[in-house]
Amino acid sequence: MSVYGLPPAQPAAREGANTASSLLAARGQRKIAMITAYDYPSALMVDAAGVDIVLVGDTFGMVVLGRCDTVSVTLAEVIHHTRAVIAGVSRALVVADMPFMTYEGGVAQAMENAAELVRASGVRAVKMEGGKIIAPQVRALVDAGIPVMGHIGLTPQRSAVLGGFKVQGKTAAAAEALAQDALALQEAGCFCIVLEAIPPIVAERITARLRILTIGIGAGAACDGQVLVLHDMLGLTPAGPLPRFVRQYAHLAEDGRKAVARYVQEVRDGSFPAAEHCYSMPEEEELALRGL
Ligand code: KIV
Repeated sequence: MSVYGLPPAQPAAREGANTASSLLAARGQRKIAMITAYDYPSALMVDAAGVDIVLVGDTFGMVVLGRCDTVSVTLAEVIHHTRAVIAGVSRALVVADMPFMTYEGGVAQAMENAAELVRASGVRAVKMEGGKIIAPQVRALVDAGIPVMGHIGLTPQRSAVLGGFKVQGKTAAAAEALAQDALALQEAGCFCIVLEAIPPIVAERITARLRILTIGIGAGAACDGQVLVLHDMLGLTPAGPLPRFVRQYAHLAEDGRKAVARYVQEVRDGSFPAAEHCYSMPEEEELALRGL
């Protein structure tokens, strides 16, 4: 065996895995749990924990790459992270984000980039931000055989025109405009729509008017499911105020800092490595080496 341990796992078997249609069939019977993941170990972890959908969200630009927003994320970067996630997921449906400006330019652009994403990463479903304005792109992708998840409300790729990361749908008119967007996405063939940062009653009304799934993030409990950014809920997001919709289930950055500090201490005081971390050689060779 290599000193580095076992070789990486082969791409997982996908028999019996969730699909867009199997999840849609579960609508109304159970809530859907979705979470982001951006690499192989986190994909293995969230899949083993039983999530229904793993999103390779462009939030990795912020929580993994340390950027201040998601708009600089490229298609090549999404492909890179999605390949790692696909390798670790055997049961959940993996959905990858189409990055900023890879689909807004029209149907041809969306088709070309979605094809590249699907072919190069192995992902089978994509997510796009926007309402009725991107309905033609959704229709084209679905007709081509790519399940599409929509995303309305606070759409981070459009935060510059939304005036920042702000709650949406706060007036009756804005709420109705969101509902019209959701209906247009459903009509275009989306199997699911993420509703981000909108009042619970708006999400509830939209969910009631749809026959496809709604997944809320900061949208209350009436949605068909919920999504959180993995690094936010595990306490891995660098210091700074988290959105109020985040519940932290762990504090891994702090646990990790403590573990590394202990390692630093043990390297310095010589207590690491210990005998059990070292490799032996045949005794006679060792004696020869020592000149005995
Ligand atoms: O990119 C992302 O992680 C997302 C979720 C917040 C829904 O779009």
